[in-house]
Amino acid sequence: MRQLPVRRDHELHAMRAAGRVVAEMHQVIRELARPGTTTLELDAAAREVLARRGATSNFLGYHGYPAVICASVNDELIHGIPNDRPLADGDLLSIDCGAIVDGWHGDAAFTMPVGTANADDTRLVHAAEQALMAGMSAMHPGAHVGDIGAAIHAVVAAAGYGSPHDYCGHGIGRAMHEEPDVPNRGRRGKGPRLVAGSVLALEPMLIAGGHDDVEELDDGWTVVSADGSRCAHVEHTVLVTNRGPEILTRL
Ligand code: MF3
Ligand code: CO
Repeated sequence: MRQLPVRRDHELHAMRAAGRVVAEMHQVIRELARPGTTTLELDAAAREVLARRGATSNFLGYHGYPAVICASVNDELIHGIPNDRPLADGDLLSIDCGAIVDGWHGDAAFTMPVGTANADDTRLVHAAEQALMAGMSAMHPGAHVGDIGAAIHAVVAAAGYGSPHDYCGHGIGRAMHEEPDVPNRGRRGKGPRLVAGSVLALEPMLIAGGHDDVEELDDGWTVVSADGSRCAHVEHTVLVTNRGPEILTRL
């Protein structure tokens, strides 16, 4: 790929606004998610945030997707469709959502235990967050996209977890998914070079059982671990600057 696009100040202004809306959706969902809550209720709360902020959803209608959040529980890794089944104590919940403000996109995900957390899930979520931080730390001008994947995968592999090969992070801007792909594994020094003003969505995906294989359910969306083990997915939309990475999807 040719040089990555450089976002200008007024474009970043809109991307920061979109990112803040995504972070607010996350905050509202974190507060609501407890045993007995349904993921459809979480979707409704996320829709309220979008409406209140005058933002629109980049998930709703995406290849026909029916909701503004993805809610993936336990062995579900990504793209779970909200439903009316109450969350149970000890469930592991991953939420992914995005927003559009003035035509510019934000996209982010987090994973949290519902109610009582067990030690295995806490360790899995911590590794996912560490992998995301390691990937962001590789995002300096002149670095390569492969450096990000290598940094993410080093954390995931050291913790003994698996990660799917066919799903990855991505460039983001006027569309949710832009070039380049940002894989969760890679070779240092390989792939497109980052420059100040590049914006990428990094999204480590971890499979507790240590295998990389996933399956898509008959609903055409939900991706689950093939070994049935629990999964974690975290994501931020991140800007490359000369002063280090800037997370756009935060308050
Ligand atoms: N947000 C996902 C990603 O991180 C894509 C979700 S697609 C949807 O790239 F259709 F489920 F919205
Ligand atoms: Co994404």
